[in-house]
Amino acid sequence: MKIVNDPVKAQKIIKELKLKRKSIGLVPTMGALHEGHLSLIRSSCKENDFTVVSIFVNPVQFGPKEDLNKYPRPIKNDLVLCKKAGVDLVFHPMAENIYPQGYKTWVTVDGLSKELCGKSRPVHFRGVTTVVAKLFNIIQPDAAYFGQKDAQQAVIIEKMTQDLNFLVKIQVMPTVRERDGLALSSRNIYLNKQERQDALVLQQVLDLAKSVIKSGERNTQKVIFLMRRFIEHKNSAKIDYIEIVDCNNLLPVKIISGKCLVALAVWIGKTRLIDNVIVTSNR
Ligand code: PAJ
Repeated sequence: MKIVNDPVKAQKIIKELKLKRKSIGLVPTMGALHEGHLSLIRSSCKENDFTVVSIFVNPVQFGPKEDLNKYPRPIKNDLVLCKKAGVDLVFHPMAENIYPQGYKTWVTVDGLSKELCGKSRPVHFRGVTTVVAKLFNIIQPDAAYFGQKDAQQAVIIEKMTQDLNFLVKIQVMPTVRERDGLALSSRNIYLNKQERQDALVLQQVLDLAKSVIKSGERNTQKVIFLMRRFIEHKNSAKIDYIEIVDCNNLLPVKIISGKCLVALAVWIGKTRLIDNVIVTSNR
């Protein structure tokens, strides 16, 4: 397994592979790898000749008061996991490799980036699309793998790929969960024992929404009201948002008909967690 931090070196390796007509899969990550990341990595290894995992805690997608400095960086363990999973190249740049002094170019997907998480994280998605566009240019993957756990991110990246004519197939893979339902996240390690228990409320309230919709409720305000009431009795839980939106444009829907995305962000103590489910109404 090769480990490279210089984009120019990575590009040289990629050029050789392209000459040999090898297919390339890319799994962009910020490290602290868990089974969620590994499921993407395994899919890429299965479907491509060569798999690149990028590990880069992208500073520009963190707001000024967010957890950039304390974000976990267990790089040694990440490399072991990558090697075990059969990764061919780990691209692990430093911030100055990606944003050298005088860096000026940004990629923004209008509209979508302002919805849901964009309301409380105004610079987040601009940071994500900028780094992912750069990764697409450096690695030139045939396919790139993202998780449904970050549903809004996946929709935005699909839109960017379409709008900027990237020849990359975007593969969105199901959310991997702990046995008790909590979606895996690198941020789960911030939770203490009590908070870890309280965090189950995210999955539970999504299950509630799903069953209420499946049993015929179509009014999103009513569903959201029930969800709020369910969460509010958890001591350490504070709702950032609960929304029911169109799966493509991420705009709120009033009356559910067909497929919709139920998405939420909840603070558990000092940790902000997100989760979502796609629900299809019966009629
Ligand atoms: P990160 O949070 O490390 O996640 C990397 C990828 O793993 C994302 O596509 C995310 O959706 C996916 N993922 C995380 N938890 C998952 C789970 N429980 N099940 C399935 N997939 C999961 O998302 C980012 O990094 C960054 O924003 C990035 C795209 C790398 C740009 O910096």
